[in-house]
Amino acid sequence: MKYRDLITKMTIEEKVSLLAGKDFWTTHSIERLNIPSMAMADGPHGVRKQAENGDHLGLVEGVKATCFPTSATMANSWNVEICERIGQGLGQEAVASNVNVLLGPGMNIKRNPLCGRNFEYFSEDPYLSGKLAAAYVRGIQSKGVSACPKHFAANNQEYLRMTNDSVVDERTLREIYMTGFEIAVKESNPKTIMSSYNKVNGEYANESEKLLRDTLIDDWGFNGIVVSDWGGSNDHVEGVKNGNHLEMPTTGGDSDYQLLEAIKKGVITESLVDKRVEEYLDVLFSVQIQGEHQVNYEEHHELARKAAEESIVLLKNNDTLPLKPHTKISVIGDFAETPRYQGAGSSLVNSYKLESTIEVISDYELDYIGYVQGYDRIGRADSNKINDAVNLAEKSDVILLYIGLDDVNEVEGYDREHMKIPENQVQLIEALAKLPQPIVIVLSCGAPIDMLWNDRCDAIVHGYLPGQAGAKAILNVMVGKVNPSGKLSESYPYEYKDLSNYNYYPGLEKTSEYREGLYVGYRYFDTNAVDVRYPFGYGLSYTSFEYSDIKIDSNSVRFTILNTGDMQGSEISQLYVGKKSKAIYRPLKELKGFKKVYLEPGESKEVVIEFDDKSFRYFDINTMKFQVEDGDYEIMIGASSRDIRLSGTLYVKGVEVIRDTNISKRYFSGDVQQITNEEFEGLLGHKLPDADWDRTKPLGLNDSLTQMTYAKSRLARLAIKILLTLRKRSFKKGKPNLNILFLTNMPFRAIAKMSGGTVSMEMVGNIVTIVNGHFFKGTSRLIKSWIWLGRRG
Ligand code: BGC
Repeated sequence: MKYRDLITKMTIEEKVSLLAGKDFWTTHSIERLNIPSMAMADGPHGVRKQAENGDHLGLVEGVKATCFPTSATMANSWNVEICERIGQGLGQEAVASNVNVLLGPGMNIKRNPLCGRNFEYFSEDPYLSGKLAAAYVRGIQSKGVSACPKHFAANNQEYLRMTNDSVVDERTLREIYMTGFEIAVKESNPKTIMSSYNKVNGEYANESEKLLRDTLIDDWGFNGIVVSDWGGSNDHVEGVKNGNHLEMPTTGGDSDYQLLEAIKKGVITESLVDKRVEEYLDVLFSVQIQGEHQVNYEEHHELARKAAEESIVLLKNNDTLPLKPHTKISVIGDFAETPRYQGAGSSLVNSYKLESTIEVISDYELDYIGYVQGYDRIGRADSNKINDAVNLAEKSDVILLYIGLDDVNEVEGYDREHMKIPENQVQLIEALAKLPQPIVIVLSCGAPIDMLWNDRCDAIVHGYLPGQAGAKAILNVMVGKVNPSGKLSESYPYEYKDLSNYNYYPGLEKTSEYREGLYVGYRYFDTNAVDVRYPFGYGLSYTSFEYSDIKIDSNSVRFTILNTGDMQGSEISQLYVGKKSKAIYRPLKELKGFKKVYLEPGESKEVVIEFDDKSFRYFDINTMKFQVEDGDYEIMIGASSRDIRLSGTLYVKGVEVIRDTNISKRYFSGDVQQITNEEFEGLLGHKLPDADWDRTKPLGLNDSLTQMTYAKSRLARLAIKILLTLRKRSFKKGKPNLNILFLTNMPFRAIAKMSGGTVSMEMVGNIVTIVNGHFFKGTSRLIKSWIWLGRRG
């Protein structure tokens, strides 16, 4: 043990104190032993350093920091280098703010477009997510602090995120929901990982031996620390036993007390606690910040702009773009004045500065004739605003129309209910589409929307949520100063009902069933030839590229790309691998590599994409290991998943696989929208757990506050009714109340976990007794436990 001497000098109370937070953002120090504390802050696309009494939902402003494009945006860059540079920028700002652990990147799979936090995540594909997350981690950690990829694992819905159980078969879990984390761990060595709130197959992620010890530590060789999500520790003792090192935020000593009791009773050994302390100290001492550090925020602003430019996706262009100098343009849409450039919740950055389109447009050689708002952020269409828009637009040559998702629809703690943009924006599009002027739509949102109005416009520039410098980045693309090179990191279906998990998402009560198995995003659409509006990996350029000369050997695939247009530009080429198999089911193709290359007009380059340990593997549930199936593999090089330009075959030696007859034919065909209970049980290899709440049973510590809708106590039913009404009202006002969102999604136990020690777990138990209709019993016990807590201190 590296820190044996130090640990021997600690009292048992000091040891356990290190394994839980001191307050909302920091850990305990032990001054007599020179053990410092560690500070944490969100997040994924900008440092949100808060005062000690801050909150974790972005309600209290953090210190000013650069707001880089969100991960969903950056994923469209497919550019590992720029992601690493953003990581370095984030790391530098963390150091300057004395933050030792930066809580990001977020890297859950975008399983369904409605997940409220999709804007914080990279992609529907694990390979792309993993590679980009690893780049962020390398960048952040190069500055001497720790990154913290999150939320491990299978955390794909916000609704009831702290109580929901993700029921997912082992192969899907490993291949889709964990491969990204595996890549990040193996390729960037994060010092910290955040476990997720939810359960995975019946166990809380934060206390799952299988996830933390067997996979993360033993299998992938993770040697950092696991921190719980905020309030996400269910049973601290079980957590520590199974691989968690740090419960956050503080529970005011309640968790320490439980750990001490568990040691006394022999539920956990002191030597295991020592091991966790040792592992914790190793990270703690490696992330200490010395001296004062300055950040050049102007440079970071430029980096944020460059990053946004790399990520913008040109979805459609009927020769309207790039805009010629002196084109007479009208600018319409509230987002041009008040940009949507990040999402809401714990990732919300207090931007160092923010550009809006109408502030910067005069820097361009365009004849800008004016701006009108066009629509209200929230509410119905306003005919006056629409008329003003039409009147202005009539006088221009080209209409630049800024639209997208409103603020209430991309927020932590709340999944969208549909894929539409606000109706008042659609009405504005319809009104403007009657004019002869071409319309360029500039879209802002961090997840797919349906685009039933797609034919009403001439060009679509998708900026996603491009960060504080997004306005100029988008204009640079529109005038052709920058040739767009982003490609979608997720599929855009025509309609919500086209999705593989349309019938299964979100889980509404106890569980969330991943019946679609491996068929997430393009894996489903491509296998089933379901038409999509814009496929995975798709994006236009102002130039064109020709692919030729494919050469495949056992180590790599090589090919040539030629820029056949008259403008320099970058092309993202994608390697997909597929295999026809009678033994195991497989999507038609899966992303296994990518390269972004820059080419001058007329220039050609040979591109080499190496195969790696992920190229041909599948997870074998019999051996619980990744295996390679023997046989011929199709090697495809695409400009998108639907635009395969070159292909060939490669024989790969592997194992003979015998078909598992429990797997339904539907998984082989990919027709997975209507998987029955029996079929899903065949895939899972066990019976389905109950999906529904048992409304006849009293509520328990781990039931959600939302379940008070059927509580015995009238008071409790009234309380949840009020909360839900307040939630609705806040949405109507256009400002979702994040506290209420947190409350309605949380279990009773989190009252203790989030109250900083004011409420003990015992007190919560008594509150639950009241909720279950035993008012007097619960109240008298509550008072006693409160007095006891006061004495315990
Ligand atoms: C979020 C995490 C975040 C933490 C601290 C939680 O609610 O799920 O992503 O890092 O709060 O703000």
